Amino acid sequence: MSTVEAPGKTRAQIRERTLRRDDWRVYPVTTLVIFTAWVVYATIRAFWGAAFYVPQYHYLTPFYSPCLNDICSNVTVNGHTGDAAEFGTFLPASTRGWIPFAALSLPFLLLFRLTCYYYRKAYYRSFWASPPACAVSEPHGKYTGERRFPLIGQNLHRYFWMAAFLISLINTWDAIRAFHGKDGGFGIGLGTLVLVANVVLLWIYTLSCHSCRHIVGGRLKHFSKHPVRYWMWGQVSKINKSHGRYALITLGSLVVADLYVALVSSGTISDLRFFN
Ligand code: FES
Repeated sequence: MSTVEAPGKTRAQIRERTLRRDDWRVYPVTTLVIFTAWVVYATIRAFWGAAFYVPQYHYLTPFYSPCLNDICSNVTVNGHTGDAAEFGTFLPASTRGWIPFAALSLPFLLLFRLTCYYYRKAYYRSFWASPPACAVSEPHGKYTGERRFPLIGQNLHRYFWMAAFLISLINTWDAIRAFHGKDGGFGIGLGTLVLVANVVLLWIYTLSCHSCRHIVGGRLKHFSKHPVRYWMWGQVSKINKSHGRYALITLGSLVVADLYVALVSSGTISDLRFFN
């Protein structure tokens, strides 16, 4: 097996695949199961084309935002009609089922997560076994890192971050719209809280990104001459430490938000109302 070694150094000749005695397989196997389940759920929901909006309370699932299909305007659910198309309807109704309603945002969000430093570590270990864990040899014959196509594309992460930032603004608008009462005007239901919690977590995940940390505080020679950027860099650094945790938590919060909207929209459950 060829390996990358520091000049003048050789690797210890160990016959065993690893000398680790702990349960190092738990992380890659658990990650593989969680990611696979999430991708299956998200793919089904993205192409479902129904149960995405609750007109009475203005609840729009994040998987359909911004909602661009012709069907997104004048949505009627449980006798209530509303408009989920806040940014136009570019997609004809005939594309339902093979182009997601959120065709503008989902590809960027997918690439944003796919190139995220945390996810890279997670799926390199669990899907490619490259390597499956620290101090465990990998089955691959050679290692070229992220210097060649297609993995060199991981360097585009900072641009996908910018797209994700804009999409988070749209999600924020969706959460603000969800403060809608059943008789019109202001209202709060469990769905409002679910959508707000999800968008707060999405912001924490997006702002704790390593690229974000570099964008706000990188390429500076003197922090003392840039106090605002220094302050922002300090705040991002605080949440950056738990970036991997937020990456996982937001997978869960996205499913919870989508599922809740789907259940209310389909009439399976009623929204729990706190005010109006
Ligand atoms: Fe994870 Fe940027 S490093 S979103």
